[in-house]
Amino acid sequence: MKNIGVLGGGQLARMMAQAGRPLGLDFMFLCPDQNACAASLGKHLNAPYDDPVAHKELTEWADVVTYEFENVPLQVVESLEQQVALHPSSSALAVARDRLSEKNCFRSLDIPTAEFAPVNTLEELTAVMKGMGLPAILKTRTQGYDGKGQAVLKKETDLPEAWEQLGKRPCIVESKVAFQREVSVIAVRDQKGETFFYPITENHHREGILRLSINRLNDPVQDQANATIRKILEDFNYVGVLALELFQVEDQLFANEFAPRVHNTGHWTIEGAQTSQFENHLRAVCGLPLGSSQSENPAAMVNLISRLPDENQIRAVPGATPHFYGKAEKPKRKVGHITLTGDDCTMEEFDKRLAALLQMAGESQLAGQKFLDTALKPQFP
Ligand SMILES: Nc1ncnc2c1ncn2[C@@H]1O[C@H](COP(=O)(O)OP(=O)(O)OP(=O)(O)O)[C@@H](O)[C@H]1O
Ligand SMILES: [Mg+2]
Repeated sequence: MKNIGVLGGGQLARMMAQAGRPLGLDFMFLCPDQNACAASLGKHLNAPYDDPVAHKELTEWADVVTYEFENVPLQVVESLEQQVALHPSSSALAVARDRLSEKNCFRSLDIPTAEFAPVNTLEELTAVMKGMGLPAILKTRTQGYDGKGQAVLKKETDLPEAWEQLGKRPCIVESKVAFQREVSVIAVRDQKGETFFYPITENHHREGILRLSINRLNDPVQDQANATIRKILEDFNYVGVLALELFQVEDQLFANEFAPRVHNTGHWTIEGAQTSQFENHLRAVCGLPLGSSQSENPAAMVNLISRLPDENQIRAVPGATPHFYGKAEKPKRKVGHITLTGDDCTMEEFDKRLAALLQMAGESQLAGQKFLDTALKPQFP
């Protein structure tokens, strides 16, 4: 295996290629965006996802194909899968791209979730909300990301406006979980079924967009998270990296959604784990042995949204590594991230460095918080 075809050419594809080139892998990206930021790391097929000529070139060249996001047309993945090795399989993608099938999948595997119901009309929504308490969240079944395609329902009179706002499309409505924290677990499974789990990551969002992730070593809910994601991996006979987002209420985890791909909450693994999620995804899809997913030290990831801070300022913080994606700055766009590792410092010092990076990223509210010494997080030395 040497030639990797990727559907999508954004930052996830780019970081995959950055991890894969030292392994001797070459990349080709099928991406309709002419400014695809992965393009400098391989050959860019600048064509629509369903372009037959691009498919021919991709399948003739690639030893294996993978994808970087869920919104690639399902039919494209199903058709390519008939022609070339492709991981993760279209069956995982089919479930993950539709919030209703995703929640039904959790239910069938006995994985706890928020209360939910499908709704196809405003009348159905109104009827469902008589049984489900407020607050609740209305979400479009497909195409949502970064909190897009969602509306919070606080009172009964919010329903018509929310229904309009989401475009009167097939939706799912979920009760709002009063969680203590949001975590995610990332795992990788190879073609023989060997599975490695990364330390869980605690996630902080603002305006529906992920801002900060921190790894939590030896966390009390790690085993529960591993057992939950293992059920999904085994159900799909999954190959590659899988991410599962969870809400924690007391000591119980509720599944929110899964992503059959490398994930924003795993970017800290580039510098913070023995093998990054990107490298392990490639190892899995290529049939190589997996690398260790262990992490011995605190690590965090700060997303850079809309604009990039000064690179020198970031590099002046010990343990900080900027990752700029080569994308034009634009409001609400993810244009980069910073990884912070704390191999050489105390908990207090790590928190201080993290606060400085959060300030640079414009997250002054998060910068005012202490992350490493609260009751839920007693794990660091
Ligand atoms: N049922 C819920 N109860 C409480 N909060 C929720 C619920 N659903 C979503 N949220 C909040 O909204 C955020 C985004 O929701 P979700 O992950 O479902 O959508 P998304 O658009 O796919 O987001 P992303 O692309 O960041 O993963 C969640 O991380 C969480 O903070
Ligand atoms: Mg999410």
